[in-house]
Amino acid sequence: MIVSLILISAVPLSILTSLELSITRNPGIIQYRSHGWLRECAKWDSIHQRFLVSTMFDAGIAAIDIGKVQMEEKVMLRETDMAGNASLGITIDEDRRQIIVVFADVVGHKHSAVAAYDLDTWERNYITHLRGVEEGKEEEGVTMADDVAIDSNGNAYVTDTISNEIWKLDSKGNLLTKIRNQAFKQTNGLFSNLIGLNGIVYHPDGYLLVIHTIGGDLFKVDVTTEDVKVVEIIDGSSLKMGDGLVLLSPNQLVVVAATSVKLLESLDGWKTSKVTKIHRSGPMHRVATSGTVRDGKVYISYIVGGGFPRTHVITEAVF
Ligand SMILES: *[C@@H]1O[C@H](CO)[C@@H](O)[C@H](O)[C@H]1NC(C)=O
Repeated sequence: MIVSLILISAVPLSILTSLELSITRNPGIIQYRSHGWLRECAKWDSIHQRFLVSTMFDAGIAAIDIGKVQMEEKVMLRETDMAGNASLGITIDEDRRQIIVVFADVVGHKHSAVAAYDLDTWERNYITHLRGVEEGKEEEGVTMADDVAIDSNGNAYVTDTISNEIWKLDSKGNLLTKIRNQAFKQTNGLFSNLIGLNGIVYHPDGYLLVIHTIGGDLFKVDVTTEDVKVVEIIDGSSLKMGDGLVLLSPNQLVVVAATSVKLLESLDGWKTSKVTKIHRSGPMHRVATSGTVRDGKVYISYIVGGGFPRTHVITEAVF
């Protein structure tokens, strides 16, 4: 995300203007009016047939009801207990009709939290403040919670993109452990851990798939044994700058990066994988960060808003 903002500030204004025009002319793009410049993550809420987006610096969530001629975001949540922090990764827990939201202090890296809200009433089911956990006692230090996945029992897994660890919470929001592994830490270069563990999804066979943004490693993490393996990318493709992940089917994973969206397939339970398709047609200057599945199709969301009046876009990734 931080890197994404550096990328966008390097694009000359004239190019930006023509890229913006290409959005206006593309009827396939879902475009909605918004009151903010930055929107981190969008997920499809199939129960209510709407996209939910994290609105970042107001620690909120907004809804976009699709199908209207003029789509506009509607504020559903502002977490006043997390004022000054940003809402980042979200995931929809359909079984429990709730949304899980990650919050973090993206500037000072002093605070991280994860919370769950009822998808119908927006009542808060839990909020848990996250720090490290060392032998039962909390430790202080810099953290930045980034993205979240839930397993079939409602346990939540939250990536810490600075310490390269994964918090695990039970379905009531109690902090159980922090999954640590030397393999999560990159060793090649000073900035190699600047943005570490980021996008995360739960695979129905009992493991997590997690991407390390700068290093480009895709990890398979067994949630029972906490065993960690690097998924071997047999075609030699790089997943560097990979951000959001989407599990399209048990054998298909989408890796969203600012520059391209890659479709990976695995035929051996994510021991090895290869990139089978690449999608490049999104408005690149808006900087893709996350993806979601709606009616079997993949939709990509972008962090940066633009235009007048200000809009954000969500596009379908056709592979
Ligand atoms: C983030 O939220 C925590 C918990 O409410 C609060 O203590 C902290 O001051 C907030 N951070 C910022 C930068 O405002």
